[in-house]
Amino acid sequence: MTGFDLTIRGGTVASDTEVFRADVGIVGDRIVAVETGLPPGRRDIDAKNHLVLPGGVDTHCHVEQRSGMGRMGADDWYSASVSAAFGGTTTIVPFAAQHRGMSLKQAAADYAALACQKSVIDYSYHLILSETDPQTLQHDLPELIRSGITSFKVYMTYDQLKIDDYQMLDVLAVAARERALVMVHAENNDVIRWVSQRLLERGYTAPKYHGTSHVQLAETEATNRVIQLSRLFDVPVLIVHVSAREALATIQAAQKIGAQVYGETCPHYLLLTEDDMDLPGTEGAKYCCSPPLRDAAAQEALWDALRQGTLQTLSSDHAPYRYDASGKLPEGDKTTFKQIANGLPGLETRLPLLFSEGVGKNRLSIPEFVALSATNHARLYGLFPRKGLLAPGADADVAIWNPTREVTLTAGALHDQVGYTPYEGMTIKGWPETVVSAGRVIVENGRLNAARGSGRFIPRSTPMPCTTERELTPSTRFFRSLTGSKPVSL
Ligand code: URP
Ligand code: ZN
Ligand code: ZN
Repeated sequence: MTGFDLTIRGGTVASDTEVFRADVGIVGDRIVAVETGLPPGRRDIDAKNHLVLPGGVDTHCHVEQRSGMGRMGADDWYSASVSAAFGGTTTIVPFAAQHRGMSLKQAAADYAALACQKSVIDYSYHLILSETDPQTLQHDLPELIRSGITSFKVYMTYDQLKIDDYQMLDVLAVAARERALVMVHAENNDVIRWVSQRLLERGYTAPKYHGTSHVQLAETEATNRVIQLSRLFDVPVLIVHVSAREALATIQAAQKIGAQVYGETCPHYLLLTEDDMDLPGTEGAKYCCSPPLRDAAAQEALWDALRQGTLQTLSSDHAPYRYDASGKLPEGDKTTFKQIANGLPGLETRLPLLFSEGVGKNRLSIPEFVALSATNHARLYGLFPRKGLLAPGADADVAIWNPTREVTLTAGALHDQVGYTPYEGMTIKGWPETVVSAGRVIVENGRLNAARGSGRFIPRSTPMPCTTERELTPSTRFFRSLTGSKPVSL
């Protein structure tokens, strides 16, 4: 084959199953050949001694989105997408959030307008649902799912976003009917509220009490509850940001009995612990997220779960709140743990951390890294085979990694607008030096070469978990029949 616009030559290519020597030939925005000995393209990139991997897909990040507490993150679609690109991620899927009283359709339209003006890489978005009125569930949500927004997130905690069990069943019923993937933030709101109230009354206000109030059993209970609710219709659910050992064990046990439950974790749960919240003054606020950081035993259990496939994705959960009054510290040094904006930044560091701590420390193989960083995301969220693999026909989204380059992480060298990194001063090995998005070399020699708004919206197909046809039990068939509008004979 001749006439490549770009070839990536002499590198070691990997998929989620194998590692092999090949050149990658690109025409326009697509890969057209992956084989050895390709003829020169109009431009050649020498990838000798480098790994040539699918560009990362980050399916959990908060970009230009107001939180449940009403706080706006520091990154807009431009800074977030630039930061993602520098970290080897070529597709992001953040959230269009419906806050109470808002039209879901309007929330999605407003968000789409922001993205298309600013993103430098390809993108889609999920929805966040906080209302379950007929307009939302019977009209807007099905219409949006059919237009390619095939996943949405619901919260079991945060007073301003949470839905109750009845609402959860309504939501799961729509997902079963429309074949969409439900992402769940699983923590028991009342346990957290009850403990928090008593801690505050007793004057325990420091950031570390965030961890005390978000006790492990709150995560475990909610994880179990939503899994059991999902079993009524045998509909898939994906538990996001799994942090706790018991929650993991709950997911594992449910998978063993055939429940359709998937799971995600994030770098901070693998690399940081609750001790990081226990710093002098309010410094621990930089490490407050929900669910909270746990302990070393939880970290080991999470690495095991990634290897064993109990958890399928590693996302950033990038929640870019600055360490000032706009984000983490609304009341300055008087801010209590209840007022700290929840979440950690991490779009740019997600993959370098996973590579260094996972592949570099022999916890993960290279195919496992590819699966957790890109391929599984693409499969689970309806982007495969366009994203998440290097093969003819796929989008030419490629990260060329120098596996031996050492980098010391500092906030100043990252491209987000957060102003701090939880990993300040940490030296890691392996960095995505050159990044190709839809055939364009957008990061090279530490410089960006992509215009604001040049990323494309990617409509998503049915998520892989929702395409699986399963033999339903008579009981599940019956409850599924109740999700439709036709009368049911008992
Ligand atoms: O603490 C977190 N995870 N903040 C971001 C919002 C969310 O719940 O994912
Ligand atoms: Zn969440
Ligand atoms: Zn999140």
